[in-house]
Amino acid sequence: MVRSVTSVIERPYVLLSCSMSIDGYLDAATEKRLLLSNDDDFDRVDAVRAQCDAILVGARTVRRDNPRLLVRSQARRDERVARGMRPSPIKVTVTSRAQLNPGADFFTTGDTEKIVYCSSGAVELARDRLGEVATVVDGGQPVDLRKLTQDLHSRGVGRLMVEGGGTMHTQFLTNDLADELHLVVAPFFVGDSRARRFVSDGMFPWNPARRAKLAEVRQIGDVVLLRYALSPRFGTH
Ligand SMILES: NC(=O)c1ccc[n+]([C@@H]2O[C@H](COP(=O)([O-])OP(=O)(O)OC[C@H]3O[C@@H](n4cnc5c(N)ncnc54)[C@H](OP(=O)(O)O)[C@@H]3O)[C@@H](O)[C@H]2O)c1
Repeated sequence: MVRSVTSVIERPYVLLSCSMSIDGYLDAATEKRLLLSNDDDFDRVDAVRAQCDAILVGARTVRRDNPRLLVRSQARRDERVARGMRPSPIKVTVTSRAQLNPGADFFTTGDTEKIVYCSSGAVELARDRLGEVATVVDGGQPVDLRKLTQDLHSRGVGRLMVEGGGTMHTQFLTNDLADELHLVVAPFFVGDSRARRFVSDGMFPWNPARRAKLAEVRQIGDVVLLRYALSPRFGTH
């Protein structure tokens, strides 16, 4: 008897999180960063972060927003430490050009590992520039997100939160690598097509013939959270 062996390569449970304007923008096109959410929702996001092993953002978000990507609540950090984890999740970013500042808050804050998945062509530059503050991984040309998730899984990441920007959300969704989406809608319009939208063009697995499952609608002050189940793994991690 010939037995076929199919190797199942595992990846983490992937949760996408984003807030957008009523007209679907993630930010304004102006110099000043746009705050879309409110304090209660930022606290909800903090609770979701605290449940994850790693948080990923694209390199443009690191440059534009200079995020710290840490768990803010001391109680949640303590709870993680009590469970034998670092106070905040591993930080992950993706770049093709390695034009990232080692002094950015992404790299300098938090007692946690930082990983940069870099396109093959810029890996050497990335190691020179960021090797002291992060682990630089050759992610392919361009970085292959499926392999990235598999690599994170092999590093012990069971639950990955993707916090933007639009380029990252688009790739996770079009590659069918997302299990859950948290979409927060802020009660105003941006009305400027130079600004970045939640997603750009692509072939999305969810379309009029294959609708995503709306799992929850929650009002949080003046914003609304829409929680979508995007895979059969929803809720299992
Ligand atoms: N409202 C929200 O929830 C929220 C959250 C996060 C961000 N934002 C906003 O979103 C905007 C940024 O979004 P964005 O779409 O412009 O950028 P992004 O997704 O943050 O980052 C895009 C960058 O990531 C790198 N990259 C992406 N895919 C890659 C691949 N497969 N291989 C190699 N490199 C890859 C490239 O970096 P290099 O350019 O370095 O090569 C690319 O320019 C900002 O305005 C930010 O404020 C909003």
